[in-house]
Amino acid sequence: MDNIKNDTLEILLSQDEIKAKVKEMAGQINEDYRGKSPVLVGILKGSVVFLAALMKEIEIRCSIDFIAVSSYAGASETSGIVKMIMDLRESITDRHVLLIEDIVDTGLTMDYLKDNLLTRRPASYNICSLLSKPSARRVPVDVKYLGFEIPDKFVVGYGLDYQEQYRNIPYIATLKPEIYRRNK
Ligand code: PRP
Repeated sequence: MDNIKNDTLEILLSQDEIKAKVKEMAGQINEDYRGKSPVLVGILKGSVVFLAALMKEIEIRCSIDFIAVSSYAGASETSGIVKMIMDLRESITDRHVLLIEDIVDTGLTMDYLKDNLLTRRPASYNICSLLSKPSARRVPVDVKYLGFEIPDKFVVGYGLDYQEQYRNIPYIATLKPEIYRRNK
């Protein structure tokens, strides 16, 4: 059978590990944002799986919105140039904004969004990311809610892609080297 899981090499984070962490992160958000009705801003496309899981564990009043930026354009290395593909639908002025990200890698995406979104004067602004790759950082990013730090390996699954594939793998894994060779 043509199963994309056969393309994965090493599972870095299992479904159970991620599930437990998402619950823990949501618990902290429930406490910190009680009475604040935050807007959870998902960064498309990578954050969709994480956002969907996280919001189901959030028990306070909240809304969601999406913004799309891209710097990788399907590749495994950033172009270094962040582009806005789609803006938020709602105003965030005077709102408590919690950015939901799948991974902070170089930090360029978060840096760009901070500059852009703070000009709209939100009541507060924080970042929640499932993954962080500190060794790849080019600009500092303050991640208030972080799931896991991972080593400097290219990972897919749980929303993260390689050439737009593998987002639907329910865990975080590396890919077999032949997958990159096949796509060169
Ligand atoms: C990925 C990921 C983050 C960003 C992190 O998005 O989802 O948004 O890169 O990398 P950085 O810290 O080096 O900026 P990508 O641009 O690949 O778009 P996607 O979410 O649609 O896959």
